[in-house]
Amino acid sequence: MTRVIAVANQKGGVGKTITSLNVAACMARRGRRTLLVDLDPQGHCGVGLGIDTEPLKRTTYELLVDKGASVDDLAVKLPWPELATLSFVPANLRLALAERELSTRSTLGNLALATRLKDIRADYDEIILDCPPSLSKLTLNAFLASDMVLIPVAVGFFSIHGVRMLAETLRDIFEETGLDYDIRCLITRYRSGQTVSREVRRAADEMFGDYCFTSVIRETAEVEKSVGAQTPLCISAPRCHAALDYEALCDELIELSRGVTVELLGDEGDDAGKEGADGREGQKAV
Ligand SMILES: Nc1ncnc2c1ncn2[C@@H]1O[C@H](COP(=O)(O)OP(=O)(O)O)[C@@H](O)[C@H]1O
Ligand SMILES: [Mg+2]
Repeated sequence: MTRVIAVANQKGGVGKTITSLNVAACMARRGRRTLLVDLDPQGHCGVGLGIDTEPLKRTTYELLVDKGASVDDLAVKLPWPELATLSFVPANLRLALAERELSTRSTLGNLALATRLKDIRADYDEIILDCPPSLSKLTLNAFLASDMVLIPVAVGFFSIHGVRMLAETLRDIFEETGLDYDIRCLITRYRSGQTVSREVRRAADEMFGDYCFTSVIRETAEVEKSVGAQTPLCISAPRCHAALDYEALCDELIELSRGVTVELLGDEGDDAGKEGADGREGQKAV
């Protein structure tokens, strides 16, 4: 079953892009049909994947505003044979223009992405949306197109600040629209043995309950190097801490999607599905 994950946090530098492109790469390396869409006009996903996005004429902008453009037309080729099942729609600064055009379309403007993804859902197992560092129209489009919002929280003194507001805003949006929501927190730049890392972990656990991923992404020098090498970690440094952590996160994500499938198929008897995908419905903290 296809799942759309929006990777979002209005704060910059928390690991949205690193998480989006490495989760997408890990999933593709496992043979899962994966689509990565860059929704940030800064185009950092493309940078991390070795693509010069500046001259591109067909990008996420077309996906949002041009009804005639298809994901197949817009996806760019990536050089790694191991990632043959990964499709990538890049962004560049032109995407900032979409913001204004979507604003003029009233409520329907917020559903532009959801509408476009609906047509191609069946072609993919995972669709990952890398959001900009703001609660803009682009981010709203991502929320309304997604089944899960993954909020990366980077360890730091102010890191948990603002996350509660984001989670509450999300809850309001989903309640207003009547959509089901699954909001999960991922701690990034974690350092074992460091007090502030432990404190952020505790705060996130309190806020999200079981909706905080068990996997944390450790602070790892290879992450910065992989950005420099414009290559995902599973290719450039598959044994480094962060690469192993992203693999563990993908295990968790795949396990969650299995739960959803079982729920939909009703495999586990009458009441099995009512508890939610992973039996943790009652512990939703936000
Ligand atoms: N686990 C990590 N270890 C070390 N550096 C990291 C890690 N995760 C992210 N970074 C660094 O943090 C910076 C910001 O990450 P990025 O994913 O671009 O954030 P965002 O997309 O939220 O703005 C990047 O330069 C990246 O190299
Ligand atoms: Mg980013």
